[in-house]
Amino acid sequence: MPTEDTPHKSGKLIPLIALDNLKAGETKGIEIEHVDDDNGIKDSGKETTRLDLIIWHQGDAIRVFKNACPHIGLPLETFPDRFLTADKKHLICSAHAATFNLDGMCIAGPCPGKSLTEYKTMRLDGWLMLG
Ligand code: FES
Repeated sequence: MPTEDTPHKSGKLIPLIALDNLKAGETKGIEIEHVDDDNGIKDSGKETTRLDLIIWHQGDAIRVFKNACPHIGLPLETFPDRFLTADKKHLICSAHAATFNLDGMCIAGPCPGKSLTEYKTMRLDGWLMLG
């Protein structure tokens, strides 16, 4: 089973991208900064972490995965926003060709049965929100 996760513990929503900027059948790569503490509030002096994400607009669904291959943790893409196989049915890692289904499960390549980490999202006021 793919893992679902949240990058922070506060439950605070983080805007990822305007829905108008996503096209069905395509992927986008984005990076966000988040705070690794219990309340998710960014105070001066607190450590922030960069989180590299893959957004995959699959028909009506939009899935968000951590951009870290379960094989050895490399980011999947070689070129910006290019995460899909030629037929656009699967995500593929450019390093060793691990191929992932709609749920982020590796179905071919060096890590069968392992999954990308998936994050919970929701749509709000025209935005895709993480959290
Ligand atoms: S790091 Fe992705 S297949 Fe090896």
